[in-house]
Amino acid sequence: MERGMVLCLFCCLPCWVSGSSQVQCSADKGTVPVGGSVTMRCKLNSDCNTQDILQVTWRKQSGEFAGTIATSSRSHGQRFLGPYSNRKVRFAEEIQNCSAITIGSVTPGDQGCFQCIFNIYPLGASMGSVCLDITEASISDPKMEINLDSNNDHVISCSATGKPAPKITWNVTRTLEQNPQNYSINHPDQTVTVISNFTHRTLGRIHVTCVVHHPSLSSDIVLSKAIEDSQFFETSNSLSMTSLMIAAIVAAIPILIIIFYVIVHLCMKEHIIHKIHSHPGTHFCFLSRRFL
Ligand SMILES: *[C@@H]1O[C@H](CO)[C@@H](O)[C@H](O)[C@H]1NC(C)=O
Ligand SMILES: *[C@@H]1O[C@H](CO)[C@@H](O)[C@H](O)[C@H]1NC(C)=O
Ligand SMILES: *[C@@H]1O[C@H](CO)[C@@H](O)[C@H](O)[C@H]1NC(C)=O
Ligand SMILES: *[C@@H]1O[C@H](CO)[C@@H](O)[C@H](O)[C@H]1NC(C)=O
Repeated sequence: MERGMVLCLFCCLPCWVSGSSQVQCSADKGTVPVGGSVTMRCKLNSDCNTQDILQVTWRKQSGEFAGTIATSSRSHGQRFLGPYSNRKVRFAEEIQNCSAITIGSVTPGDQGCFQCIFNIYPLGASMGSVCLDITEASISDPKMEINLDSNNDHVISCSATGKPAPKITWNVTRTLEQNPQNYSINHPDQTVTVISNFTHRTLGRIHVTCVVHHPSLSSDIVLSKAIEDSQFFETSNSLSMTSLMIAAIVAAIPILIIIFYVIVHLCMKEHIIHKIHSHPGTHFCFLSRRFL
């Protein structure tokens, strides 16, 4: 009897031991803003192929409420319990060895750790856990500024204040001479002002777009400006004026040569005719011949 039990324990032990450590849980976001939604997912990785999942239980381990919040079993279906029975919550995925729940309209009370328990026959329970960090997200003052520094270079700066810290990325139509630098200022109310700036010596016209990312935003804030270097246009204008003059001179040379030849040719002809007819002419050729 005792021997049999020990034997059974031994044969189940490898699976039981490995099974217990093989529930991996994760959330689709580490920090969840109030009002947002989050999906927590637990996966049972087991090499014991004779597993039969009887029930998956989700428990809240800490925070405002602790206890079972949801169960899913073949015999009883899906159930939500406690404060989660009247919340925007659902099982997102229910394939054999994976369980996921989505909580919508997240409240500060969702802060804490959640445990997912797979009840497996004949191995028993395997569990994993995942923790949520809930933030009262806010964002204010997203702005982009362009100023000239002492070298007459453009200083392009984008900033925003928020909780958690906003993220700033750039989209510029030209490769930059300098990578944007990030600065952050922590305020006592836990909001953070993030400033990203860079210096750019413009050559012509460039488009600068600053993109502010924040979990409280359903879509990113896009701030866009075009910078034109007036100095460049001035120089380019005078450049084109000079080249225009050069082009005019170059074009005039062959015309002058042609005119010259025509005159010479006409005068030669006239000279012969003049000789044959011995006509006294007061043509301009006499004048020109005198010049030639
Ligand atoms: C889930 O279980 C099936 C069979 O039980 C197995 O083929 C599959 O690899 C498992 N998936 C994961 C993610 O463990
Ligand atoms: C500045 O922040 C952005 C995103 O917020 C990041 O992509 C970039 O690498 C950061 N740059 C520096 C210099 O830290
Ligand atoms: C950057 O700008 C280009 C052109 O304006 C646009 O096609 C591209 O989608 C932008 N990229 C991002 C990440 O916004
Ligand atoms: C970028 O902003 C920081 C903080 O405001 C400032 O100290 C720094 O001089 C700025 N950098 C440039 C290139 O203007």
